[in-house]
Amino acid sequence: MSSSDNHDDQPAAAEPVVKPKIGSYKRHLLVCTGPRCSADGASQALFDSLGDKFKAAGLNAGDLRVKRSRVGCFAACKGGPIVCVQPDGTWYYNVTPDNMDRIIDEHLLHGRHVEDLVFHQAGED
Ligand code: FES
Repeated sequence: MSSSDNHDDQPAAAEPVVKPKIGSYKRHLLVCTGPRCSADGASQALFDSLGDKFKAAGLNAGDLRVKRSRVGCFAACKGGPIVCVQPDGTWYYNVTPDNMDRIIDEHLLHGRHVEDLVFHQAGED
């Protein structure tokens, strides 16, 4: 007898889809840790440094909290480490540790772009 003949079988109740939750944040910093835009793990090292850097700057909580995420590739693929600040749509290249400190001080804390590190701004040519 096949299972379809077993009238005692009840269809499995569909599990409800769990609605995810994330903490509120002001900005979202996306870091490419893909293989082509930077060498020697520089992008992963940058990402790994952000927890301490954000905490030191007070960006780990509160009104200016910055969420951080890794991205596999932005299809830019040179001049890394590359980061994108959302929702501002500001893209930075050559984000060395010192340049990340500048982005934290100027952009994430004070809302001013670090112009010499911007390679693209959403909404502009
Ligand atoms: S691998 Fe980083 S942008 Fe493509």
